[in-house]
Amino acid sequence: MKKFSITVAGGGSTFTPRIIMMLLDHQEEFPIGKLCLYDNDKDRQEVIAKAFEILLKERAPQIEFSYTVEPEVAFTDTDFVMAHIRVGKYAMREKDEKIPMKYSVVGQETCGPGGIAYGMRSIGGILEILDYMEKYSPNAWMLNYSNPAAIVAEATRRLRPNSRIINICDMPLGIMIHMAKILGVNEKEFDISYFGLNHFGWWTQIKDKEGNDLMPKLKTYVKEHGYDIHVESAQHDDESWHETYRKVKDVYAVDPETLPNTYLKYYLYPDYVVAHTDANYTRANQVMDGREKTVFSAARDIIEKGTAKDCGFVVDDHASYIVDLARALAFNTKEKMLLIVPNEGAIENFDPEAMVEIPCIIGKDGYEKINQGRIPQFQKGLMEQQVSVEKLVVEAWIEGSYQKLWQALTLSRTVPSAGIAKQILDDLIEANKGYWPELK
Ligand code: NAD
Ligand code: G6P
Ligand code: MN
Repeated sequence: MKKFSITVAGGGSTFTPRIIMMLLDHQEEFPIGKLCLYDNDKDRQEVIAKAFEILLKERAPQIEFSYTVEPEVAFTDTDFVMAHIRVGKYAMREKDEKIPMKYSVVGQETCGPGGIAYGMRSIGGILEILDYMEKYSPNAWMLNYSNPAAIVAEATRRLRPNSRIINICDMPLGIMIHMAKILGVNEKEFDISYFGLNHFGWWTQIKDKEGNDLMPKLKTYVKEHGYDIHVESAQHDDESWHETYRKVKDVYAVDPETLPNTYLKYYLYPDYVVAHTDANYTRANQVMDGREKTVFSAARDIIEKGTAKDCGFVVDDHASYIVDLARALAFNTKEKMLLIVPNEGAIENFDPEAMVEIPCIIGKDGYEKINQGRIPQFQKGLMEQQVSVEKLVVEAWIEGSYQKLWQALTLSRTVPSAGIAKQILDDLIEANKGYWPELK
């Protein structure tokens, strides 16, 4: 069986160990010959890499492992680039979250002004990696988790329309695992219909393989508890995530015909979100004190002991999704998965030039979209506003336009007025010096 070469871009990410552990779990179905970590922060990556040098020597010595900050080394002879970079790292995430909160506006990693600021940083970083990949391994696929995926996807649609990049998000799978637990079934048995933008979508159908409708039973639960239920997973388990899962109850109430993505709370209940956010200790602080510490101390522990026996690295659903996608492309499995792709009629009554999140069939030539037909007025209205925000951000980045970025912020449902949008924008420009193109 062919052995694949994988490059993890953002090798120093807190999610890198989970993805590598998942790859190791799948060596029979998806064997790896070469694994290379790439990052632009040498010191951060080195901690993770040195730990894996030890772990892989013990558990999978047949894999040729390396790590580098040199693009040519990282992207030559690779089959899959799994990208999860965070341009500006947690220090900038913290600013994205705290600056809007000064104006009592949602401060969030991917939604509202924080997501817009992050988008303005990410576009250049992703294009750079995509260009390296195409230069050194033109037949490779880039599977991109780097956020904000909606803005990154629109940027690559506009600027690299023929690139082999697939943008993805783990949130729908995370939610479906909760749904499966609520129903007492396995999420692999679901047959779903779903439409929307990234972090902005709805399920319209959830059936089992026999065609039985599972929505009524789910709705009965969601009406009371949202999607909150205990699942064994390393991801989405902090109290703030449970709160998000619970709040789905109120998001669902606005349209009981569909089941919503958790992220819609930021757009439908921004006042509630602001009231329940500690402006001095946001999600970035929770992650720095939580996941980042746990992952890096597990790595340091391996390095100190010189062995990965009983190590603290875990796997989760985030990792299973990207590994399943790579395997589906490699082996033409024709699995159905949600991807962020150009609409081009898949949602009939929506902008054909929008990047939408819909089910696709994955095979070795890429993906085929599954048409989702016409969507209701409520969702269509929300999506038109949000997709315009995302398009304006990309236009602002391309043209260096202050005006367009101000319009983007003004149009976001999370921002109450053009005046507040302008104040937030001016603060964000100051904070993002050196990361954003200069705006005129
Ligand atoms: P992290 O800060 O721990 O890791 C990001 C790494 O990227 C860092 O090591 C950093 O040095 C590196 N990096 C930054 N800019 C780079 C560049 N230009 N080139 C190469 N490397 C660069 O962040 P994290 O919390 O582990 O998250 C990583 C990314 O994955 C984020 O973008 C996050 O939003 C995203 N994510 C997406 C999903 C999804 O559903 N799409 C789910 C989880 C995480
Ligand atoms: C979900 C989303 C990701 C996002 C992550 C944030 O998994 O799909 O796009 O990056 O949550 O999680 P965190 O624990 O970093 O706040
Ligand atoms: Mn996501």
